[in-house]
Amino acid sequence: MYERQTETARQKNRRRAVRRQRRLLFGILIVILLTVILIFSCCGRGAQAPQTTPQQTVPGSIAEGTTARQAEPLPEGWEYRASEDLSLQDGTLVLVNADHCFDPALPETVSVYDNMTGSYLVKDIYLSLTEEAMAALNRWMDAFAAQSGRRDVNIVAGWRSFEDQQAIYDNAVATKGQAHADAYIALPGCSEHHTGLALDLDTYDLASGTSGGFDGDGAYTWAVEHAWEYGFVQRYPPEKSAITGISYESWHFRYVGLPHSYIMSTEDLCLEEYIELLRQHPFTGEHLKASCQGAEYEIYFCPQDALVVPSGRPYTVSGNNVDGYVVTVHH
Ligand code: DAL
Ligand code: ZN
Repeated sequence: MYERQTETARQKNRRRAVRRQRRLLFGILIVILLTVILIFSCCGRGAQAPQTTPQQTVPGSIAEGTTARQAEPLPEGWEYRASEDLSLQDGTLVLVNADHCFDPALPETVSVYDNMTGSYLVKDIYLSLTEEAMAALNRWMDAFAAQSGRRDVNIVAGWRSFEDQQAIYDNAVATKGQAHADAYIALPGCSEHHTGLALDLDTYDLASGTSGGFDGDGAYTWAVEHAWEYGFVQRYPPEKSAITGISYESWHFRYVGLPHSYIMSTEDLCLEEYIELLRQHPFTGEHLKASCQGAEYEIYFCPQDALVVPSGRPYTVSGNNVDGYVVTVHH
């Protein structure tokens, strides 16, 4: 009797234990299921993380993904331009000096030898310039040859690689001393010859096979005085060497394009000074106006994160290789 009762109690206990195990198992399954649902729902949101919307340039609109500065509304006739396709190292107004270096691999250049007119000479077949500087050089030298009857200006330097500049610098140190090298030769990486916008002039007498230098005097005065008309400036004038960091080079010209060459020449500004002047004329302030060779221009500076351009009117943009863009509107 006692044994039977004990047996029944044992059976009840076993059944209770089985029920407890089932409940525990069920609870664990529910927890696993909820965890899996939670993980998947999180991953799903991650895949749809906010995407950067490319900037639109719809007049008067503020595109998604704009910078805080670009949230400011613009007057009619102006719009923000996404600067993804632009760079501060792109354009004819890049400032290159000891404080602002430039990657020689950036510019696309064309052969001077292949594109030259018969109005001048070229030192070798490896010389190259940007396409725009090349076309301007042809116009300038054609005009000089027509005016003077001389075709002996020799182009002896254009775009230079880092290694070219290093070799020129090292050679100057070895042959003329450190002080001379530092006065006349930019350190590799900081030469504006890396841009393809700078060139050096010389003269060459074909009959005697001798170089005459280019001092810009006598018959060549015209070429110097009229260089601005073709977009060129003498980059290292004697009175600006404290600013440029380079002593007077009568032979070194830099293409900046019109109307900038006109303003720099008439206002007697070197590129460092001109870039600073432009910074004093932001889009939000008074724009610089220039009138030359029958065309009207309006010029202003934009910081890197808020490039504003005119809607439906011709303009050009150049990075300054420092901190922003220069916009030139053609009226
Ligand atoms: N002679 C100029 C400054 C240069 O080396 O780039
Ligand atoms: Zn030079």
